[in-house]
Amino acid sequence: MAREAEIHIFEDSEELAAEAADLFLWLAEQAVEARGRCTVALSGGSTPKSVYSLLASSHARRLDWSRLFFFFGDERCVPSSHPDSNFHLAQTSLFLPLNLSDARIFPMRGELDPQVAAAQYEGTMRRTLEPSTDGWPRFDLILLGLGPDGHTASLFPGTDALKEQNKWVTPGLAPNGVRQRLTITLGVINHADLVLFLVTGAGKARIAKEVLEPSSLDEACQHPASLVRPSRGRLLWFLDSAAAAELTTTRQHVSWREE
Ligand code: 6PG
Repeated sequence: MAREAEIHIFEDSEELAAEAADLFLWLAEQAVEARGRCTVALSGGSTPKSVYSLLASSHARRLDWSRLFFFFGDERCVPSSHPDSNFHLAQTSLFLPLNLSDARIFPMRGELDPQVAAAQYEGTMRRTLEPSTDGWPRFDLILLGLGPDGHTASLFPGTDALKEQNKWVTPGLAPNGVRQRLTITLGVINHADLVLFLVTGAGKARIAKEVLEPSSLDEACQHPASLVRPSRGRLLWFLDSAAAAELTTTRQHVSWREE
């Protein structure tokens, strides 16, 4: 039975980023203490950049980074040096500043044929991640963003990637920009220990309302992001006040440290 989303609203994107960095560290410390390592799937897009920069600067000395294993929730099918690459974002704002070893960083191969790259990445995940009880991988943390059309990772409305029930990684198709994508599937996302959405800006207010406070059953499952309901893990939404402007929710939890 999926647990209720825990919604946290912050004054602005800076406060949200600071809280997200603190949660990242808190969760990593818990995972390392419990299992000797922490497995994370990073999000793409622009929102996480400020979190990555905080982790690589003011938070850098608070964690044994050699215990973290970095995967990606999705990738654009471009070379890793391309400015649109999600790996490129993490490389420049997190990995290089922390001088992390490549041995624990697992980029999706955006330069390969998407089917080949998806199968290859799934093989990497199968060799590296703990299987959860029912055969899906178990990430300690999956970071996600929310697109204005309700997409998350590279699971776009009306695409085959959304229907994938067995594979862990599959090609995705975006409506514009870099259209060819790679993405983890809903089965992977919904078996994580903790899924954290980071949503900022007035441009996300309408879609955040439709996803978090749907006005109908149809709307409740219309958007890819609405289908993110971890089967036993926690689902946290971090929004700044601009992105939360249309929400009426009073279900704001006092602290994310509460289970
Ligand atoms: C991507 C992301 C995508 C992103 C959302 C939000 O590769 O673009 O994985 O799902 O998280 O589009 O993007 P912003 O953070 O830029 O608003």
